[in-house]
Amino acid sequence: MESSTIIITGTDTGVGKTVVAAAIVGATGGVYWKPIQAGPERDTEVVQRLTGLPDAHFLPEAYALPAPLCPSVAARRAGACIALPLLPPRRETPLIIEGAGGVFVPINGAQTMADLFAALAAPVVLVARTALGTINHTLLSLEALAARRIPVLGVVFAGEDNPETIAEIERFGRVPTLGCLPHLDPLTPGALRSSGARTLAPVLEMLRTG
Ligand SMILES: Nc1ncnc2c1ncn2[C@@H]1O[C@H](COP(=O)(O)OP(=O)(O)OP(=O)(O)O)[C@@H](O)[C@H]1O
Ligand SMILES: [Mg+2]
Repeated sequence: MESSTIIITGTDTGVGKTVVAAAIVGATGGVYWKPIQAGPERDTEVVQRLTGLPDAHFLPEAYALPAPLCPSVAARRAGACIALPLLPPRRETPLIIEGAGGVFVPINGAQTMADLFAALAAPVVLVARTALGTINHTLLSLEALAARRIPVLGVVFAGEDNPETIAEIERFGRVPTLGCLPHLDPLTPGALRSSGARTLAPVLEMLRTG
């Protein structure tokens, strides 16, 4: 897949993947794809609201499951079975693909999000919190990705800047930091646009240069 395709994953659900994805899609004028949506609050709609981009910038979900649960369980409840590979219906770039939950979230009876990422053959950006507890979650996620030879571009932090924590993750995880998006209150399209352009410059630059 093209080098300007990235997968946004996270150390957990609710960590800020969608908001980071919206900042990146908005700043690059890229295309957003959430292949597996579990739950009625669709991330695609959130990204559309936060970017104000037209429908052409959004690919339809491959699976849109009603239950806000892990994808394997949500699929089972819907009488569906998620099957790999899942490939984007169009290949315009930059293409920003958002996972569901974290790396080891099951998607069917035998596979996890990591298998989806490997089949997509695109590099990953890991979104992590800056609050206490993040070092363990982030290093475990990085190790799981490395064990499956899934390339990691770096970590984007969400929350208050925490230089000592970030330094530990860079040292032990041997990964670069690609930005630190602060908590925005209120979270508006304008606030995200201006903060994202400033705080996510490394990842935006990476996508611009392909
Ligand atoms: N930088 C931010 N400023 C303000 N609010 C934020 C920010 N990042 C995330 N949030 C809020 O935190 C909540 C969770 O964020 P988000 O939906 O981006 O997480 P996620 O990792 O995409 O979750 P999921 O696993 O469900 O896809 C949302 O209500 C979102 O609006
Ligand atoms: Mg999300």
